[in-house]
Formats: sequence, structure tokens, C-alpha cells
Amino acid sequence: MSYEDVFAAWSADPEGFWLRAAEDVAWFEPPKTAHETGKGWFPDGKVNACHAAVDAHVEAGYGGQVAIYYDSPVTSTKRQITYGELQRDVSAFAAGLSELGVGQGGRVLIYMPMIPEAVVAMLATARLGAIHSVVFGGFAARELAKRVDDFAPDVLVTASCGIEPNRKIPYLPLVDEALAMSAHPPAKVIIKQRPEQDVAIRPGRDLDYEEIIAQGGTTPCTPCPSTDPLYVLYTSGTTGAPKGVVRDIGSYVTALKWSMSHIYSAQPGETYWAASDIGWVVGHSYIVYGPLVNCCATVLYEGKPVGTPDAGAMWRVIEEYNVTVAFTAPTAVRAIKREDPSASHVGKYDLRQLRYLFLAGERADPDTVEWVADALKVPVIDHWWQTELGWPALSAFPGLGDTKVHIGAAGRPVPGYAFDILDEDAKPVPRGESGAIVIRMPLPPGAMTGLWNSPGRFEEQYLSHFPGYYLTGDAGFMDEDGFVFVMGRTDDVMNVAGHRLSTGAIEEVIAAHPAVAECAVVGAADDLKGQVPVAFVVLKADVVVTETLEQELIISVRQEVGAVASFKRVYRSSALPKTRSGKILRKTIRSLVDDKPFDVPATIDNADAIDAVRDAITPTPRSS
Ligand code: COA
Ligand code: AMP
Repeated sequence: MSYEDVFAAWSADPEGFWLRAAEDVAWFEPPKTAHETGKGWFPDGKVNACHAAVDAHVEAGYGGQVAIYYDSPVTSTKRQITYGELQRDVSAFAAGLSELGVGQGGRVLIYMPMIPEAVVAMLATARLGAIHSVVFGGFAARELAKRVDDFAPDVLVTASCGIEPNRKIPYLPLVDEALAMSAHPPAKVIIKQRPEQDVAIRPGRDLDYEEIIAQGGTTPCTPCPSTDPLYVLYTSGTTGAPKGVVRDIGSYVTALKWSMSHIYSAQPGETYWAASDIGWVVGHSYIVYGPLVNCCATVLYEGKPVGTPDAGAMWRVIEEYNVTVAFTAPTAVRAIKREDPSASHVGKYDLRQLRYLFLAGERADPDTVEWVADALKVPVIDHWWQTELGWPALSAFPGLGDTKVHIGAAGRPVPGYAFDILDEDAKPVPRGESGAIVIRMPLPPGAMTGLWNSPGRFEEQYLSHFPGYYLTGDAGFMDEDGFVFVMGRTDDVMNVAGHRLSTGAIEEVIAAHPAVAECAVVGAADDLKGQVPVAFVVLKADVVVTETLEQELIISVRQEVGAVASFKRVYRSSALPKTRSGKILRKTIRSLVDDKPFDVPATIDNADAIDAVRDAITPTPRSS
């Protein structure tokens, strides 16, 4: 069937479409009902994500097939884990969690680097019908504490350290600091001791990961209502308070399974590699659950696209594990291109089995797409989605034999998603004209079911702006052929090297400095990372300001938000442009930093503040 036929089949009968898709997943009780308002998708199905991702394949005779290739250039380690071995470890770890009192609906927070034990912890939690929340290892103590407070985990699973190319990151001091700040610290902490760093176990609180595995316990998969939560994944909004996106079980695995074959064209038994991190949604969906539910091998790569050891690292991994479908962020390609502009590393590897490279996480600029398509000689497919949606919403469809792309566009709507582009009065704009990108409700299987701990906040944040529609927060346009061009966020969320970060989280840290009266952080355009945060600070009149203020602020953000914020630029300004009601005009400031034209609302007179920001950016000419 063509893309058009499949889309038409979904439009004509969405419920029948998804009930048929659900047949490809291993259920304990297959759903008979597709959707019920107020309950969600597949309300009468019983399922377990670990069973669908692991046990079902072992039961079908694939226990000897590789499930995970762990490749860690930063520790010079490689390991293969079969589905049978994964099932054994997951079952043993689930037994350990169960002994600690984690059961159906229990909560496990996972703060770990890219090691197989992190995947084991996720699947073991799912096995028990408990809920996991993975926190990206690049976040520092304060960000971790916010998530601990909101999620209130029963158990926290961590490792003795993370490893970046230029340094080791001891996790325990960060965990201890976060738990000390937190109002709901978990009673138990499980630690995977890595050979690179051994940490002292705190008696009474800490347990050793390996000891739990060595006990060799076994636990069956708990059959759960399909609508039960599988995980909470925190993502950045405009404010400093992260939003806990809740995902259910059965609809998620159904959507992932459908996408693995119909979008990515990945066949069971092949290796599929998403070069991301388990701390992000791409990692949840396409390092862990998607490839495993599809009985593929997945690659857990603990390294960078450049520098570990060179700009050929991605091509090496693709060759070594016979990757047929790969997925990365445009930033990674830009980093490779910058180091190896002639793509000389590509020729060193046999990449004949690679069929497609998918890109997502940030806008893919046409130069980057063309460069990598030319280097790899395979279709390069930009596709678009968000933490909230859980799986692609705009794409091309190799699995349906359709690789059509329009350069600069993120693809056409995935069946399940009805897109519109609206103006501020909620009227659809003509094709080719820009507006807010929205999706008609209800959202398909796999999309968020709500925000953790925040009844009503999902409706308020995503559904109230345009009644009947989900607000993506992105702006763009649709061309005559239905391809959607995503041009950027309409809110103050930044996208730094494919990582979604909140301006508010950085502002909170800066505003806490005793010399700062007010501040604004904006995402400035950056050739490598897409955007990087830049801060403008207005200082208090009555304080003595040290020469090192900027450095102090940079260090604070690094220590409190994390190095991943890539925060390196602070400007002192005497004022900030604002609306009449006192809201800082971040869009105007961003345009000034990027040297782009902008409109100032006609009602306000901000000329002085705009000049102040301009002066702050412009280097002062030195007198000779
Ligand atoms: N734990 C601790 N620190 C981390 C970290 C982690 N998991 N991930 C990143 N950091 C640190 C880095 O070490 C770096 O620290 P530094 O300032 O001391 O050098 C800082 O955070 C910024 O990291 P990063 O944005 O990764 O920049 P980089 O300069 O180290 O690498 C790229 C640049 C392009 C290679 C890198 O950004 C990259 O691989 N991008 C692709 C992103 C991606 O896959 N995103 C997933 C979205 S789907
Ligand atoms: P995240 O929730 O971290 O996946 O970030 C989602 C946001 O990243 C989207 O709302 C977009 O702003 C941006 N994004 C992701 N993929 C793309 C893409 N292919 N093109 C443009 N922007 C993208």
C-alpha cells in the first residue's frame, strides 16, 4: 500500500487502523476497544512492555539473537547481549526491585550513563508494572533534585560514574547533593560500580547492582492494563519546572512497532541504531523499546560522533554491527562535517548494508542533509517529533516504499496525526504561509497521556490555546504537496545540540546571584549546536560587581543545570526590552543577538532598552 493509501485508511477508520496495528504486539489480553474518551487507547487490553520487548521474543525462539550491542570507545569496551541474557538480567534485577517493595505502580528513577545496566533497570521496572523516570546523565544535582521531588521515587538506580571524552563524572556526589535538596528522597539507591570508579556504599541506603544480579532471582512479567503508565520523562518547558510527560504501555508499544516497520523499514533480526542517549525520548523510543519490540538488535553507543577517536566513529559502528537503519541529530552530522569536510572517513568502512539515515531533534539545515546524503549515498530522511508525542509525527516512509522528501521539510504527516497550520485566530492559513503547527485531537497511540503530578496542566498547556487541537509549540508551514516545514519554537524553549533545554532553568540560576537584578536567557543561533544559550544580565545598582561575575555565572549554570547547557556567553545590559505588563521580550533579544530584523510591538517604547542590549553585544572599540 502507498503512503497515500495508508493515510486514507487511517483517516477513514482510525480505530480499526490502530486495532489492526495492535495485533502485531504481544499482549496478555489483546484489546477489543480502540479508544475511549477519558480512558485513552486500548482501555481493555492487558500488556507488559518488558514482555513485548524481551520475553515474547525469547518464547518465540530468539533467545540467542543479539538484543544489545554495547560499544563504548570512552572505556574501550564492547559487549553483546542476547535476548536470553537480557531476559535473565532483567528478571533478576526486577526480583531485587521487588524485594525493595517496588511493585505495580511503584516508581524507579534511573540516573545512569549509556551502559547496558541502564536498559536492564528500565526493562526490570517495566516488568513489574512499575514506572520509570530516566534522568539524562548530563544534568547536574539541582535538575536531578527537581525531578526527584516531582516523581518521588521509591528507588533510585545510578552508576559510580559517567565518562565523557575529557573527564570522568562521579555520579554519587551529584546524587547525594540532589537527595539532600529533595523533599522526597528515595529510601534506597542501587549503584552499578564501574571499573573506572569504585564508590563507598552507604550502609542502609545503598545496594550494589551486581550483587542483586548475582542473586539470580526471577520475576514474571506483570500483566498490566494497557493504559497504565510505563514511564515519566521530564522535558523542558519555558519555565524552570520540568514537565513530566506520562506515557502509557500498550499504545506506546503498538505505535513503536508500527513505526519500526512502516516508517523505518527495520526488519526483525537487523540492527537498528539511534545515536542518542537513553535520557531523551529518542533513547526511550528508539534505543530501547522500539528496536526491542521489533526484535531488532539495538546499539548502545557510549561515545561521541567526533573525538572518540575520530570523525569516522559513526561509520565504524554502522559497519561493525551491520546497522541497516541509523538515526542521529543534525548536530552530530555538522560536527563530523566540520572535522572531515571531504567525508574521507566514509570510504574506510563497508556501509553497503545501510539503507537509510534518519535525522531529528532539531531543524536539519539543507546543507547538512545534502552533505551527508552525498557522503553516504543513501536517502537521508529528516523527521519530526517531540518528547510529548513519543514517536514520529512527520516523516518519509521507507517502510511503505516512499522516500520522497522536500529539502528543508520535516516530511508529511504520519498516519495517526492530522496536522493544521493556524493563525492566531485559530483559522487555517493557506498552503505556504506560516503559522502555529497544531495536531487535531485525539492524539494517536504512543503520545502523552498527561503530565505527572499536574492534573489539568496538560489541557492548560497544550489544548487550551486552540480548542480541539494539540499545540506543538513549533511554527512553520505546509507546502502544496503536504510537506511540513518546521521553522522553530514559538515559546522560549531552546534546542542546544539536539537537547531540549529551558531558558527558565538557566535564568533561575543566574537570577539567584546576589549582583543580578534581572536577566534573560535566549537561544542564539550557533553553527554547530543549532542554538546555544546567551544571557543578558541587569545588575543591581547598589552592589559592587567583581570582574569575574560572568565567569561565576557560567560556573553556577554548569554546576546547577549541567555542562550540557553549553552556557558560555553573558552580557551586561543596563535594561531589557519588555511588554507593558513587564514580560521580557526574549524574541526581540534573540533577533538582536542573531542580527535579524524584528518587530517591536507598536504599543511600547523600548528604544532605550533595545539600544542597551545592542551595546551589550557590540564589542566596545578600544581607544589606542
Ligand atoms: N554526562 C555529563 N556531561 C555531559 C553529558 C553526559 N551525559 N553529555 C554531555 N556532557 C557535557 C560534555 O562533556 C560537554 O562538557 P564540556 O563543556 O566540559 O566540554 C558539555 O556537556 C556539552 O556537551 P555536548 O553538547 O555534547 O557538546 P560537545 O562539545 O561535547 O560535543 C557534539 C559536540 C556535536 C559532538 C555533541 O553535541 C553531539 O554528539 N551532539 C549530538 C546530540 C544528540 O545526539 N542529541 C540527541 C537528540 S535526538
Ligand atoms: P524533544 O522534545 O527534545 O524531542 O524536542 C522537540 C522539539 O525539537 C520540537 O518541538 C522541535 O522544536 C525540535 N525538533 C525536533 N525534530 C525536529 C526536526 N526534524 N525539525 C525541526 N525541529 C525539530
